[in-house]
Amino acid sequence: MCGIVGYLGKEEAKDIVLNGLFKLEYRGYDSAGISLYNNKDKRFELFKDQGRVAHLESLAKTAGASNLAIGHTRWATHGKVNQINAHPHESRSKRFVVVHNGVIENYKSLRRDFLNGMTLDSETDTEVIVQMIDTFAQNMSAKAAIQKTLGLLKGSYALLILDNKHPDRLVAAKNKSPLLLGKSDNGFIVASDLVALAKYSQNFAPLDDYSVAVIEGNQVRFFNKDHAPQEVIFEPMDFDDDLAEMGPYPHFMLKEIMEQPLVVRTIINKYFEDERLVMKPEILAAMAQSDRVYILAAGTSMHAGFVGKSLFEKMTDMPVEVHIASEFAYHPPTLSKKPFFVLISQSGETADLRACLMHIKSLNHQVITITNVRTSTLAREANHFLEIFAGPEIAVASTKAYTAQLIVLTLLAYAYGKQTFDIRKALSELAHAMESYLTDYETIEMLAKTVLTKRNAFFIGRGVDYYVSLEAALKLKEISYLQAEGFAAGELKHGTIALIEEDTPVFGLISDKRIALNTRSNLDEVRSRGARTVTIAIESLSEDEDAIVLPDVHEYLRPAMMVIPTQLISYYAALQRGCDIDKPRNLAKSVTVE
Ligand code: M6R
Repeated sequence: MCGIVGYLGKEEAKDIVLNGLFKLEYRGYDSAGISLYNNKDKRFELFKDQGRVAHLESLAKTAGASNLAIGHTRWATHGKVNQINAHPHESRSKRFVVVHNGVIENYKSLRRDFLNGMTLDSETDTEVIVQMIDTFAQNMSAKAAIQKTLGLLKGSYALLILDNKHPDRLVAAKNKSPLLLGKSDNGFIVASDLVALAKYSQNFAPLDDYSVAVIEGNQVRFFNKDHAPQEVIFEPMDFDDDLAEMGPYPHFMLKEIMEQPLVVRTIINKYFEDERLVMKPEILAAMAQSDRVYILAAGTSMHAGFVGKSLFEKMTDMPVEVHIASEFAYHPPTLSKKPFFVLISQSGETADLRACLMHIKSLNHQVITITNVRTSTLAREANHFLEIFAGPEIAVASTKAYTAQLIVLTLLAYAYGKQTFDIRKALSELAHAMESYLTDYETIEMLAKTVLTKRNAFFIGRGVDYYVSLEAALKLKEISYLQAEGFAAGELKHGTIALIEEDTPVFGLISDKRIALNTRSNLDEVRSRGARTVTIAIESLSEDEDAIVLPDVHEYLRPAMMVIPTQLISYYAALQRGCDIDKPRNLAKSVTVE
């Protein structure tokens, strides 16, 4: 969701900012823009349009040499997807230029109260910011105008601001939306995501909420909420830029599906010392003092949370509830006396979860974030965090991060429940089983072609297979745009079975011995009403006619195995439909607005 990059230094700013925008593409966007200070003509140049960064790059070919630039990828929230609404936005006098990630909730009243109801060029909330700075700067310094404007904004923002009276200055400000500063020997780069910094910087300094960074010449100063100077603390990056490359694969999604055995092995390396699981004792202690775990998450991460609940309830005596983050944030349930919160988020930036975190912290409860991005806002702001070590996940559709979340949840439940089976061995067997299944992945291509012939599809299962069905359906709909439902197999005949007609695709997931026959009966019921059924079963529970048979793995790790063919089915369904697999329409990788 919107991404911003800015650069000030000795190198060609346009190249650095465009490169950063290419790296941010994965977050999802519909328009892109760049503004740079033309060193020779001593003026800003601005290029923007709807469409891809590659299109922007061709538009900006004529730009002059520059050492200062800001760029943006827009995911529309206010106003249509068009050239005018794309960022950067310029002030009336053309003195200031701004890019913005976030949502300004009070932009209408700001326009009325401080801009005399000025008619704006765009329909965006962002334009109000740049016009306010310009209006205030007519009677005060630019610094004071920016401070005054920021003090009036309600909502979320990561902002980069240029002022053509100070072409050696780049101002950055943030509240709620992420913003990170990187530095090299040749300059400073600011961006909403580490991936955009990695090529230029070995370290980074995150900005706090309500803080402002002023980069001038070769120095940077941070100011806190009260405008007092703040120490700039850089942390090492530890980010392998090469892992964010596609390599020989046609899409990031396929690459990331294929990387899952590697992810399991990485987690083993990171979480085990001398064959022994090492789980942070302070997390186990905080959990031990609680009476109930509340898992909060969205989308795929929430589906991982459901499996986590089932694992906790099997391996420990801890009751667990799973809540949709956007619901919990404003309609929290009645909590137990000593709740412990687990936030699950691949990106660690999901705005709905940030809203939950604010609420939880205001109640002084303990919270842990389980995330792929240890530098993320949710990792930094929770009391504890666990990293899932999936490596950069670039495709919008989450695959390897989901399996990594499942495994880290399994490890947490294992450690808390004082289980004694050999989990390290079970994980090694899982990695091996995934690898052997993934060598045969192309057979799924034919299946996706012959079975997914209708506008809709169902995935059904019971217990954890139901939870994996939810994830399978989400994956199929988000990248192939087929209408897919994940359903508790037994619930189908209480209404939804009315949708079954000739050749409706129904995938049945079977990995639990106790309910294998029940799910098979449910598949018979839909088949006798015309459905085209495909059974995905674990080998020890399979029958001759099952279409997809997966190697047996430890029962607690089966969801991580069962999900793999469903990811491939979605991938091939999207491929056959000519969809933009890695960047599905309307979606963003990092959902930074509520
Ligand atoms: O970064 P998060 O895990 O917090 O994101 C939550 C959802 O937006 C995310 O899982 C989304 O559902 C995936 N793109 C689905 O593949």
